[in-house]
Amino acid sequence: MAFDINTIRSHTPACQNKLFFNNAGSSLMPISVSQVVHNYLKEEEEYGGYYVSDNSEERLRGFYTEAAKLLHCQPHEIAYTHDATESFSRALSSIPFEKGDCIVTSLLDYSSNQIQYLSLQKRFGIEIYRVGLTETGDLNIQEAQELIEKYRPKLVAITHIPTNTGTVQDVYAIGDICAQFDDLIYLVDACQSVGMIDVDVKRMKCDFLSGTGRKFLRGPRGTGFLYVSERILNTKMSPLFIDGRSAVWSKENEYQLAKSAKRFETWEASYAGKLGLKAAFTYANEIGITEIENYNRELSLYFRSRLHSIDAVECFDRGSNLSNIITIRKAPVSLKQMEKVLSDASVFYSVSTVEWGLIDFNYKGVDWVVRLSPHYFNTKTEVEELAQILERV
Ligand SMILES: Cc1ncc(COP(=O)(O)O)c(C=O)c1O
Repeated sequence: MAFDINTIRSHTPACQNKLFFNNAGSSLMPISVSQVVHNYLKEEEEYGGYYVSDNSEERLRGFYTEAAKLLHCQPHEIAYTHDATESFSRALSSIPFEKGDCIVTSLLDYSSNQIQYLSLQKRFGIEIYRVGLTETGDLNIQEAQELIEKYRPKLVAITHIPTNTGTVQDVYAIGDICAQFDDLIYLVDACQSVGMIDVDVKRMKCDFLSGTGRKFLRGPRGTGFLYVSERILNTKMSPLFIDGRSAVWSKENEYQLAKSAKRFETWEASYAGKLGLKAAFTYANEIGITEIENYNRELSLYFRSRLHSIDAVECFDRGSNLSNIITIRKAPVSLKQMEKVLSDASVFYSVSTVEWGLIDFNYKGVDWVVRLSPHYFNTKTEVEELAQILERV
């Protein structure tokens, strides 16, 4: 499919009557996604869930092929999950942490991930080291190399694009460092990047990569995925709590783990969601992730430069490579005033608050920012409309 903005917008009629800039929260599904979910639920309504899934093997299998195509891996390295956090915690729970082990992560890692590291620390007495940022606000790759060499962590876990700021962390450079150590596991949270920019797990050299359906990928809510490398699948690693999908109860006191990444799935799941997520992967593959990334880069550059031209609007994103997550405030406008103006003008956005990026917010000295996250169905005309609204606040 050639990248044509009018065609793309016609696939998402809901984007026509509003300024939708909340793709980092939960995007608008294209019709091809919502339609398969509706149709599948209709079939379940008619025949019951078991009958329908038993007769849908072929179309459900396509989920793995489409996901693998977008992420540059093999279909058997993909697991279908409920969300990014489930994907992430199932990967984490497969690592046999012992007292004294350590994790290297970043200041900008997602809040739930940070909470999980702290929970592991409480239970197993592990150490946590966070790689700092350079003066330009980028992940300090030199410091990461030093920390990894010094502490030889069991796990390096990095969030590709944080939830609360526009920085793109160089997970490829970290992958090159991790690849120097055989006994190290490298886990990437790509919840905000998959669907926005090209994410290549082989080039990233990661062992696990977690993501969600509803954000820049434009799938249904309550869906997610986990990439599990062949290297991990060749070991006996599995989530701590597994079920009849991840393993077969083969003898009274034995079980056999699934050979593929299904080892990281659960038996019960939304099949309507799985087909919807498959349609979202297919849609991104058909448009072409390179075209999407190029359009997004140009749009967000324009977005930022337009915001910079408005008096008293401050952008809080730091780093030499910035994403479609744009965070702002306008002094002295209060959050309440800002929310009213934006909602009255049918602008869809999120508010990011301190607990979702504690270290970063404390560094910046603010406790909230308005998060605007455009995507490839948005236009410069819409950005201009938003800019004029912000000028008037
Ligand atoms: C960077 C990042 N990681 C993980 C998550 C969690 O995703 P989910 O709610 O699908 O578990 C989010 C959600 O905003 C996120 O922004």
